[in-house]
Amino acid sequence: MDTQENESRGTRVLRIGDLAPDFEARSTIGPVKLSAFRERWLILFSHPADFTPVCTTEFVELARQADEFEKRECNLMALSVDSLFSHFAWLRMIRDRFDIEVRFPIVEDPTLVIGRAFGMVAPKDNDSATVRTTFFIDPTGVIRAMTCYPANMGRSIPEMLRMLDALQAIDAKDALAPANWEPGMPLLKSPTQDLDEVFSAGDQTAWFLREAGKGSRK
Ligand code: BEZ
Repeated sequence: MDTQENESRGTRVLRIGDLAPDFEARSTIGPVKLSAFRERWLILFSHPADFTPVCTTEFVELARQADEFEKRECNLMALSVDSLFSHFAWLRMIRDRFDIEVRFPIVEDPTLVIGRAFGMVAPKDNDSATVRTTFFIDPTGVIRAMTCYPANMGRSIPEMLRMLDALQAIDAKDALAPANWEPGMPLLKSPTQDLDEVFSAGDQTAWFLREAGKGSRK
């Protein structure tokens, strides 16, 4: 299915570098407006439904790791098609059963207007559930990375933190993050665009594969 077809079904295709579409909605912390969350990082993520096994494990783990996101000056915001009152009942069940309070907002999207604007609803599905899409939005409101997992597989919270660390480190150092990068490991420099540097570089890879110093989160 091409982009046009997706868009004709009311499902937007967002890409890295796009400004995250703004919205206002009810949430478990009161009304929220996406653009009001600028000036910090924001992870906006959808889940298929409340009171489902995989989603419950994700929310318990995200709530347990809330301090780690806070250290990185990053807000979390979840979204599903379920009603605000379903979200409340689910969070109460999570608190009672797992002894952890989910304090980040969970947005209700009963008409799927937000899910469609963000392409979180699989266009081929007649199902109204959103897939597990995650948007990493920088402090200027720009989408910097996205992941999409199927409904039957939970996200890795350490990988969400690693992606956030990598995005923050490459911004701070104006550098590139190599495969398997973790905080404290070297980042890479962008390749030169100067032929003299290419010819004068010490060895065959030195002009395009160069370390940029160790990267920390900020
Ligand atoms: C879950 O979170 O467990 C789930 C949600 C929708 C479909 C399948 C699994």
